[in-house]
Amino acid sequence: MIIDGKQIAEQIQNEIAAEIQNVQGRKPCLTVIMAGEHPASQIYVSKKLEACSKIGIHSAQITLPNDYSECALLETIKRLNLDDAVDGILVQLPLPAHINPLKIIHAIDPNKDVDGFHPLNMGKLLIGETDGFVPCTPLGIQVLLQRSGVEVTGKNAVIFGRSNIVGKPLAALMMQTTPGGNATVTIAHSRSRNIKELSLTADILVAAIGKPYFITKDMVKKGAVVIDVGINKIKNPQRKSGYQIVGDVDFDSVKDLCSFITPVPGGVGPMTIAMLLSNTWKSYQNKMK
Ligand code: GUN
Repeated sequence: MIIDGKQIAEQIQNEIAAEIQNVQGRKPCLTVIMAGEHPASQIYVSKKLEACSKIGIHSAQITLPNDYSECALLETIKRLNLDDAVDGILVQLPLPAHINPLKIIHAIDPNKDVDGFHPLNMGKLLIGETDGFVPCTPLGIQVLLQRSGVEVTGKNAVIFGRSNIVGKPLAALMMQTTPGGNATVTIAHSRSRNIKELSLTADILVAAIGKPYFITKDMVKKGAVVIDVGINKIKNPQRKSGYQIVGDVDFDSVKDLCSFITPVPGGVGPMTIAMLLSNTWKSYQNKMK
């Protein structure tokens, strides 16, 4: 079965929109900072802002030139940290090479860190404190599985990729004792041996490595659940645009083998955005308590 991430994300957005409609006075607000010109980031950011406006979250975009200094960016973040009208601060990654992303993430108020990348929020996730922010893509994957009726408890989850944005926080999330957790988690990465053998142990396989068609038919166990996080741009002269977006999974050859699979686009991507909205709404509610 193909999991329709777009539809599930829309459902969640409608649920949040209905709650926000009851808000009297100030609405939730997300500020997105984009430094430098990164074509893919521009598309992602505009999707995030569009989703905000659809459900009643105010949003602002701060666009900074490529040569903007790290020091000035830190000052911008400081100002947003102190602004009571701002509930969420998101610095779109990647940043220009002269800016240290870790330094920037450290500077964001953890209470406004709707990306969940600040070490305090990452730490809370690891030790099972649920009042922090969980990174949007891992959270989106967990919710996608829950809403599709996939039981995770006791299953072998094999995650391909060890990034701070997806692989590591997803592993932490899936091994928690909370609902949607309790999996036996393996992380596979570029230095792992016996990739195929590891892959074939997966009841739930998550591909987040950024390599088009990396997961092939011979790497998937019959009946497995396959979650594709990849967003890869490849040339396709048959398309009007001359390119095509594909995942990390060879979808066509794998789809008949597995019990559930997410498509690209229309799988995990929309869920990431829905969870950003959910985290922003959570931040607003925390502040208003
Ligand atoms: N770049 C790619 N994915 C993300 C994300 O989830 N958050 C931010 N801030 N940047 C990204």
